[in-house]
Amino acid sequence: MKRIRPEEPCWCGSGKNYGECHLEFDKKLKMYKNKHIKVPDRNMIKTPAQVAAIKESAKINIAVLDHVAENIGPGITTQEIDDMVYKKTTEMGGIPAPLNYEGFPKSVCTSINEVVCHGIPSEDRKLLDGDIVNVDCSTILDGYFSDSSRMFEIGDVSEERKRLVRVAKECMELGLERVKPWGFLGDVADAVQTHAVKNGYQVVRTIGGHGVGIAFHEEPFVSYVIRKGTGMLMAPGLMFTIEPMINTGTHAVFTDPKDNWTVYTKDRKPSAQWEVQVLVTDEGYEVISY
Ligand code: MF3
Ligand code: CO
Repeated sequence: MKRIRPEEPCWCGSGKNYGECHLEFDKKLKMYKNKHIKVPDRNMIKTPAQVAAIKESAKINIAVLDHVAENIGPGITTQEIDDMVYKKTTEMGGIPAPLNYEGFPKSVCTSINEVVCHGIPSEDRKLLDGDIVNVDCSTILDGYFSDSSRMFEIGDVSEERKRLVRVAKECMELGLERVKPWGFLGDVADAVQTHAVKNGYQVVRTIGGHGVGIAFHEEPFVSYVIRKGTGMLMAPGLMFTIEPMINTGTHAVFTDPKDNWTVYTKDRKPSAQWEVQVLVTDEGYEVISY
């Protein structure tokens, strides 16, 4: 990395001198790095201008999820959800990030019951009374990415499924509360994992959260099965998703060989997921999209 003198402008583009901006930050990161702690690269640290642009993208993402929340219900097909997402996103000037992403054919992921994630909307699948469904929205605006998801209970849902949806939400929220500057991603994982196991559930291991903002999926990978005090250091400016998939039964999953996308629980028992996009700040955290 090119050395910046303290009187030169900071690399973050704040307009302030490096000496009164990120100099101490860089020293601190170097100190951790020397102790063999995993630290984010500079390109993972969002600048104030990037954060502002990502928040504009997130405004659309949140509005789209709100729109889905108002219109979802029994009898609606997942294709109709896809249509809603495409229409609302583009009306607001955004692009649905999943559309054509690595060949994904639709604008949103709709994952029902035993589908863990990456469910493909279809005209053939109506939402039925008793279903639980995750709607995972991601938006691109001016090249900046936002990503979050919510669960919806369709009609009269069993107590068992309601409990799964509630605990999955609590897992995400407890993880979120652990986000603090100079903490570790393992602290988030620990909160998620502990709460899930306490409730008799298992957390999916092979799929997790991710850095997001400049690209759809950036480093770091956000696992929920690493230990407290391990994993990447949460430096201010790091932005990522917390999106644990909580399974009623086994944590094991498999991908549908027919479409290469849809992920199911191995035992076909229900799974639930809530996703939040979060920024680590100097004081704590800021929710970017939810
Ligand atoms: N939104 C999902 C995530 O949380 C990504 C879905 S990729 C897609 O990472 F192409 F399947 F939409
Ligand atoms: Co995501």
